[in-house]
Amino acid sequence: MGRDLERVLISEDELQAKIKELAGKIDADYAGKDLLIVGVLKGAVMVMADLARALSVPLEMDWMAVSSYGAGTRSSGVVRVLKDLDTDIAGRHVLVVEDIIDSGLTLSWLVHNLKSRDPASVEVCAALRKPDANKVPIEVKYIGFDIPNEFVIGYGLDYAERYRNLPFIGTLAPHVYGGTE
Ligand code: PRP
Repeated sequence: MGRDLERVLISEDELQAKIKELAGKIDADYAGKDLLIVGVLKGAVMVMADLARALSVPLEMDWMAVSSYGAGTRSSGVVRVLKDLDTDIAGRHVLVVEDIIDSGLTLSWLVHNLKSRDPASVEVCAALRKPDANKVPIEVKYIGFDIPNEFVIGYGLDYAERYRNLPFIGTLAPHVYGGTE
């Protein structure tokens, strides 16, 4: 990707070590329970794939695709469901898996929506969290890394649909998205 990458923020080794650490906690917390992990497309594909393989508890996987209304790159808090769950989650222990919490608005809406379906529990696991997430009161039980407010790519995160396949988290050089260097 040449000079589009500014720097590596979190290496592949650091990510994988953190996923294993989170999986250990989740295994302990859900021992003897019937777990459904829900990935939020598309960004969560990498963390879902790694987390699912690191977990030992029996689990099922399902997916939702949501899109935030509103202009620009920021969430508006109004969410459209592009793909709903295939699973009826009534009585189930649900763990929502996200790549990043930025404003927190997507997750806040999603958790509220899922809780209305009468599950046994709803918790959240996110690989990354940005500082603005503090503005929305949302309880996130499993967090990988708190990161600075920079444009990050890789490990599921895109810029204009590219760079999701990078195995690490990097920052995007400002010239790529119209900023100044
Ligand atoms: C990203 C990310 C979260 C959301 C976080 O998804 O995967 O779902 O934004 O932002 P928020 O905390 O400000 O609401 P995006 O809408 O970019 O879709 P994608 O996963 O398909 O890239």
